[in-house]
Amino acid sequence: MEKYNLKVIVTSTRNGRQGIAVANWFAEKVKEHNAFNTEILDLKEIALPMLDEPHHPRLKNYQYEHTKAWSKKIEEADAFVFVIPEYNYGLPPSLVNAIDYLFSEWNYKPAALVSYGGISGGLRSAQMSKLILTTVKVFPLTEAISIPFFAKQINEEGVFIANPLIDKSYNEMMDELIKWTKGLKYMRDNLLK
Ligand SMILES: Cc1cc2nc3c(=O)[nH]c(=O)nc-3n(C[C@H](O)[C@H](O)[C@H](O)COP(=O)(O)O)c2cc1C
Repeated sequence: MEKYNLKVIVTSTRNGRQGIAVANWFAEKVKEHNAFNTEILDLKEIALPMLDEPHHPRLKNYQYEHTKAWSKKIEEADAFVFVIPEYNYGLPPSLVNAIDYLFSEWNYKPAALVSYGGISGGLRSAQMSKLILTTVKVFPLTEAISIPFFAKQINEEGVFIANPLIDKSYNEMMDELIKWTKGLKYMRDNLLK
């Protein structure tokens, strides 16, 4: 069975960030999925500066090693999962910055969104992310995981504990993600040349 490259992108970069527990939970769970080779891309570790490339990313005329390394990671991907907090009813600036660095590396690839927050479950952040993702031709799925009051589900050891509703959302989202991953890989391999 063909395996696809899934990149789980952790977008919270704050010191003391709580979302890492959600990302770790997701990464651990997705390992069981036999259709994907999964890699976590943690924007805190990757530490891209604020966009500093002089040329438009469509040109791929990258000047800096950090951009070339980021380009390589995103180029490898067949699908993405973005784990995103909500800041001031919006998406984190780290995510906007990471998207803006590249263009064609993102194109025609699907993304599932895992958002978390207070009462909103990060939904506004997820919706705003779609606006930017679709501009770089990432296809964000309708099926998603949104986790309201997520901090209540993190135990004393810092481990996120899911519930049946989240597990159901996970299954629906991953079933959809594999369909779009296959479909868009076919499209990239056969219809764009
Ligand atoms: C600058 C800032 C703005 C925030 N705005 C929101 C918000 O609009 N909606 C929300 O549900 N939570 C908001 N929160 C609370 C976050 O959900 C909470 O701090 C969460 O832990 C952030 O994820 P992180 O710890 O992974 O960075 C905000 C937190 C910060 C630091």
